Parts: sequence; C-alpha cells; structure tokens
Amino acid sequence: MKITIIGTGYVGLVSGAVFADWGHEVMCLDIVDKKIEMIKKGVMPIYEEGLEELVDRVQKEGRFVATTDYKKAVEHGEIIFICVGTPSNESGAADLSYVFKASESIGKYLPENDYRVVVTKSTVPVNTNNSVKESVKKGAGSKKIDFDVVSNPEFLREGTSIYDANNTDRVVIGSSSEKALDKLEEIYKHLETEIVRTDLQSAELIKYAANAFLATKISFINEISQICERTGADVKAVARGMGLDKRIGPKFLNAGIGYGGSCFPKDVEALYRTSSQNFYDFRLLRGVMDANERQKIYFVEKIWNKYGENLSDKTFGVLGVAFKNDTDDVRKSVALEIVKILRGAGAHIKLYDPAAMKNAKKSLGNDYISYMDSSEAVFDEVDALVILTEWQEFASLDYADLTTRMNDKVVFDGRNLLEPEEMQKVGVEYYGIGRSKH
Ligand code: UDX
Repeated sequence: MKITIIGTGYVGLVSGAVFADWGHEVMCLDIVDKKIEMIKKGVMPIYEEGLEELVDRVQKEGRFVATTDYKKAVEHGEIIFICVGTPSNESGAADLSYVFKASESIGKYLPENDYRVVVTKSTVPVNTNNSVKESVKKGAGSKKIDFDVVSNPEFLREGTSIYDANNTDRVVIGSSSEKALDKLEEIYKHLETEIVRTDLQSAELIKYAANAFLATKISFINEISQICERTGADVKAVARGMGLDKRIGPKFLNAGIGYGGSCFPKDVEALYRTSSQNFYDFRLLRGVMDANERQKIYFVEKIWNKYGENLSDKTFGVLGVAFKNDTDDVRKSVALEIVKILRGAGAHIKLYDPAAMKNAKKSLGNDYISYMDSSEAVFDEVDALVILTEWQEFASLDYADLTTRMNDKVVFDGRNLLEPEEMQKVGVEYYGIGRSKH
C-alpha cells in the first residue's frame, strides 16, 4: 500500500520505517529541511534503538522516501497519516495548530475525485478529528475531493518503539466510515493482535484514557511509597504483592520521582481540561497531577533535610537526566527539573547520562554543571550521589568500590535501583523512595 507520513518526530519516523519494513511504499514528509536532509543521509534526528539501521535498510530497498515536497507526499499516499506534534500550550491544553496546518495542506494537495484516507496518529482531544475533516475541506477549497478521516492513536513507548510497533497489545482505529476502517485494517492485519474498530470519538479518548490510567498507577504507587516511609513498610514489597494480582498487574508500579516525558504530563493535563470543558470535574486526575508534583518535592526534601536548603558548599554526582531509561529525551524530565532545583539551591553537579548529555547541555548550559564521560566519573570527590533516571547500567555499577571515591558515602536513589541492605553493607547512607530501613 502507498502510505504518506506527515511529521518525522518519534511517532512519524518510527511508524513510517516500520510500515516500510512491513512492505508498504512509504513517503515521509517534514517541513524542516534539516531533518529530511539528515534522514536521507541515514542520520536520525532522534535517538531510538534500532531506528538508524531500519531506516537505512528500507531506504536502500526503495520503500522509504523522505521529502519536504508536500504536493508529492500527499499525491503519493492512499493513506495519509498525520503524525505532527501536539505540545501543551500555556494553559495546559493540547496545541493543535500543527495538526490543522497539516490537514489544510493535505486538502490543498489532495488529487480530485481520488479516494484517500486521512489518519490522525497524533494524540488529539476528543472531537478534534471532526475539525480535521473541516480543515482538509478548507484546504481543498472548491476542488472535489473524496476522503474519510480515521483516528488511529499510537501507543509506542520511547526507547522500545520499534519493538512496540511490531508487538502492540492492540490496534485502535475509529471512524464513521467502514470503507476507511477496512483500508486501515489492511495495514495491520498481519499482526497477531486485536484490532479495535470504533467510532472517531472513542478512538480519540482511548489514547488519553490509557495514558491517564497508567499515570494514575504511577501516582498511586508513589502515594503508597509515602505511606511506606511513614509506617516502615517497603514499597517494592508492596508493589510486588499488589502486582501479582492479575487484575492489577506488575507494570507501572515502580515508585520514583514522578512521571515525566512528552506524553504523560501533557495528556493527563489535556484530559483534565477536556473534562472541565465538558462541565465535569475529574477530581481523580487532579489528584494524580498533584501527587506527581509532590513526589518530586518530597525527594528534594530528603536532600534538604540532610544538608539544609543552601547547597552552595555541596557537590553532587548525578546519574541520569533523561525522563526515563533508554532515551535521549529530556522533555518534561523530572530528573532535569531536580537538577535545576539543586543547582538553584547553589549545588555544583557532576552529571552523566548514557544518551541524553547533548540535550542536557542544551537545556542546562555550563553554569555549576560538569558533564562527565562515564557513570564512574561522577563519583569522584562528591558529597552525595543522586540517581534520577532508571537506566539499568546504573543498577549494576560496583558501588562498594566506586563510593570509596566520594567525600561522603551518601546515595539518594530516586528510582529505587539499589537495595538498602546492600548499600548498608558497604557503608553507604542510603535514601530510596518508600524503602523500609530494616
Ligand atoms: C508513554 C506510554 O507508555 C505510551 O503508550 C504512549 O504512547 C506515550 O507515553 P513514554 O512517554 O515513552 O510512553 O514513557 P513510559 O515508559 O510510559 O514512562 C513515562 C514516565 O513514567 C517516565 O518518566 C517513567 O520514568 C515513569 N514511570 C514509568 C515511573 O515513574 N514508574 C513506572 O513504573 C513506569
């Protein structure tokens, strides 16, 4: 099938490459020349495990073309996916201007009387797709066009997105047109997974509901970690005992410094706004957002409780700045925010992240921050170690040896990567999240 992808961010680029891998003829468009030039050269504008090799292969095999030519791109695709960004605007609502711009441009270049399906993969609030339809028509002007709109939300996680695309738990497609849904099913039918066919609004809401539910799970276990700290229970034991119940499941029960990234904070906020706009006060979500904010502060308070709020005579080794492991992304990273808070309190920071150093530098600059070239290097002559991202390589360091390089053996573990007993054995004063001391 001929497929066009508008927008080469995480969702667009990964989906395009995976569709090409499945045998489709894909054309990816971006309005940023530099991005397309990079992709053509096989250099990825984002870091994603296995993406460079995959794009390189499908480009060589001739099934993946990158372009900035809107007309060519729109004419190419029987199915045209909108994968542009929907960042939060100042009020917390999803900024849909890129989606509507793309829809209008699609309308402008849609060939006359040639049936096409326009699909939104970008996460958009309920009922946006009706406006997408209008924008396409507006772009087409008086031209006679024949198209349907489908919502096909994306559930990819950064870091594992290629695997996720091939092993998705479900495919959701929503439209009022059976013909359009049939066409979409063609793309996904080889996957051994359930295809949920629904109306437009339900498909749009499924994405928000799923992300908000997962964020709720994280805030829930983070709240439980607070009870643990106040009662002597251990959050890892509690999470394990809860997660073995099949109705609950073990995933997304890791207590930490709170959720971040380009999706959860934005989507939870946007769903809360959608509900307010529809005259419903979604109090549970308000609580989820508040708990997430508090969790970060509680962690910083552990550091303040030990050293006071003026940290100007302290140097901290920091492991991790990405919003989670296996990504270079620092958007809405709680780790990054905590580094900023510590620096704001006067601390000097020795920082290392396996993938996000470039983005960290862009965001943090050089004041009070030394960028180290290995995990080991952050231990040298620091007053405490602060772990902020759940990279597995941080869990397997030789702490017995490395902590001897520190001024003081103090570890604040914001991701519960280490075990309190083991740290105690090697003489480390250890602070985790909701971990019992005995
Ligand atoms: C998320 C959804 O999982 C994905 O389905 C959707 O398409 C996009 O949003 P992603 O943003 O890549 O994916 O990150 P995810 O792995 O879900 O983690 C989100 C945040 O929650 C991270 O900051 C992570 O550190 C945090 N988290 C996750 C926890 O604090 N505890 C957990 O148990 C799991």
